[in-house]
Amino acid sequence: MTLSGKTALVTGASRGIGAAIALGLAENGADIVITDLERQAEDSAGVQAAIEKTGRKCYNYALDVTSKTDIDAVVAKATEASGGIDILVNNAGILVPGLLSEIDEKSWDAHFDVNAKGVLLVTNAVLPQMRARKAGRIVNIASIAGRQGVPTQGHYAATKATAITLTRVYAQEVGMDGITVNAICPGIILTEMGKNNLGSQEAIDHWSDVAALKRLGDPKDIIGPTVFFASDQSQFVTGQSLNVCGGIYFH
Ligand SMILES: NC(=O)c1ccc[n+]([C@@H]2O[C@H](COP(=O)([O-])OP(=O)(O)OC[C@H]3O[C@@H](n4cnc5c(N)ncnc54)[C@H](O)[C@@H]3O)[C@@H](O)[C@H]2O)c1
Repeated sequence: MTLSGKTALVTGASRGIGAAIALGLAENGADIVITDLERQAEDSAGVQAAIEKTGRKCYNYALDVTSKTDIDAVVAKATEASGGIDILVNNAGILVPGLLSEIDEKSWDAHFDVNAKGVLLVTNAVLPQMRARKAGRIVNIASIAGRQGVPTQGHYAATKATAITLTRVYAQEVGMDGITVNAICPGIILTEMGKNNLGSQEAIDHWSDVAALKRLGDPKDIIGPTVFFASDQSQFVTGQSLNVCGGIYFH
């Protein structure tokens, strides 16, 4: 299989896109380190069981991506248990909509802490071992919001634009070490976040109609592109951000 012999660490892996990616990478042969907030323990256990059913190993740790102390400890434990992290998927994210003119500082900071600083801290914790092995694959889950900017998601869009920029700069800073860094920009994916954001069946129907493929996304739609970026199939691709949105946005 494409990813056999590899270990992938996925953040925010207890549900939604992260859970789909973790299981999808396992189905393609990788052992998986799933991480998510402590409060997600029950969901994480379910994902772990599903991964183990595929015959792959699964290591499961509570991890808040805003805490450097947590990150350093979990990366050390996961590295020792698995033998090394070959693939990192920075997926953890939050979205609480609000108009920019009304956003409070706490919400602004919370979005940047998880969606932007989280990418920086987890990536920096995993990079030294990738550099030492002269190989690695990093996939950041950004958003088409980070390209376009969306009303009531200005703060979130700014964090995702940051993730896209971090992807480009990391790619240039670590390419000489055999590491690629790419981003996926999902469109509207029907997870907890996606559904909360749309709010109603009417909105789901409207955006389904806008999409070229006449439907919104399922978390599973993100698996193929992630496997591509995580595998040798993409060995000459780095610093890129791929829209995976069913044809809802074209830039
Ligand atoms: N659903 C969409 O329409 C959509 C569109 C574009 C991008 N995205 C991005 O995809 C990623 C996954 O989103 P989703 O739709 O599956 O949402 P979700 O809310 O279902 O899952 C997000 C996960 O991140 C975890 N998380 C939140 N804060 C965390 C923290 N501090 N530390 C560690 N984990 C934390 C949550 O516990 C949860 O498991 C996010 O980065 C999101 O911004 C989603």
